[in-house]
Amino acid sequence: MTDRSNLGPGVGIIDKYRDYIPLAKDARAVSLAEGNTPLIPLERIARRLDNKVRLYAKFEGLNPTGSFKDRGMTVAVSHAASEGARAVVCASTGNTSAAAAAYAGRAGMDCFVLIPEGKIALGKLAQAMMHGAKVVQIRGNFDEGLDIVRQLPDHAPVTIVNSINPWRLHGQKTAAFEIIDVLGKAPDYQCMPVGNAGNITAYWKGYREYLPEPMHYALPKMVGYQAAGAAPLVHGHPVDSPETVATAIRIGKPATWDGAVNAAKDSEGWFSPQTDDAILKAQKMLAKCEGIFCEPASAISVAGVIEDVRNGRIAEGSDVVCIVTGHGLKDPDTAIAQSEQPETVDATMDSVSGAILAAMERA
Ligand code: F0G
Repeated sequence: MTDRSNLGPGVGIIDKYRDYIPLAKDARAVSLAEGNTPLIPLERIARRLDNKVRLYAKFEGLNPTGSFKDRGMTVAVSHAASEGARAVVCASTGNTSAAAAAYAGRAGMDCFVLIPEGKIALGKLAQAMMHGAKVVQIRGNFDEGLDIVRQLPDHAPVTIVNSINPWRLHGQKTAAFEIIDVLGKAPDYQCMPVGNAGNITAYWKGYREYLPEPMHYALPKMVGYQAAGAAPLVHGHPVDSPETVATAIRIGKPATWDGAVNAAKDSEGWFSPQTDDAILKAQKMLAKCEGIFCEPASAISVAGVIEDVRNGRIAEGSDVVCIVTGHGLKDPDTAIAQSEQPETVDATMDSVSGAILAAMERA
């Protein structure tokens, strides 16, 4: 492992890990200083699990556009720019479109995004629009959008920046490097949401590249969680009409199917489902008990770990890293809908202190 602690400010994942990313030497990094996200101990949630495991959150919601997609997008857009691309395109449940729009804007390229009508969180839509993407809503889901995007380069001069673009995975694998840099080793279990399955594939690639071959015994078990209504990898076959409150992972036909299956199989990990209720409960627990506000899809990592520590599938005494993929501010509607609504009182000491004392009594 190289000491990278003396790299200056404004350094993104390409400058930091260039020796692991096969971009052309003269390719300029289109970067927003993404990456370097914190690995935060989840001590209060671990205590609820009787401290059976040491639990960490890799908070990828702290990337510049609020999700892990920035790691992949800096590389995909840098490569596209180095090839002289004029425009990028993606299908998205929201976060990819936000990242694509931001990085394309920075590179001076046009950006086109296909999103499922009505099924994208408000913050993500706002981002894509503000960053200047042309947003096309389709009357269909993500899988149908991606099928169209795959064919688009035959019809228009656009570069696809979905994770079927291998440059995306070269960027996203750097999160595994950072975890090893901080822990000094890989965790025993790495637990994460799985939708289109690019990210689990990227992490698995990252761990194997960063730990030299003789250390492969120290690789983590890769655990992928899917929403119960959108769990093709759990069932072993595509799902026609995926449904979940976690719109980021409302996907029935993951594009990187084999990569995900191999990650789980080769690492002796697994896929398992979580209900929407469990996802929202974990989202609230992370926000209230740990101060980490993530979007619903990201909370599935913690929901899954709680179940798998309790049922013994995750061994006692392990280091467990949950990938918390996106920020909670992406999806304010879901957050507000599941929270106690604010109470309105008169602007007097009596009414305010009365409201506080009543709340303390209820707690
Ligand atoms: N978490 C969040 C917050 C996501 O936005 C996504 C995917 C995932 C997890 C799953 O990652 O697809 O690599 O398995 N979002 C994509 C998008 C599909 O369009 O933003 P994956």
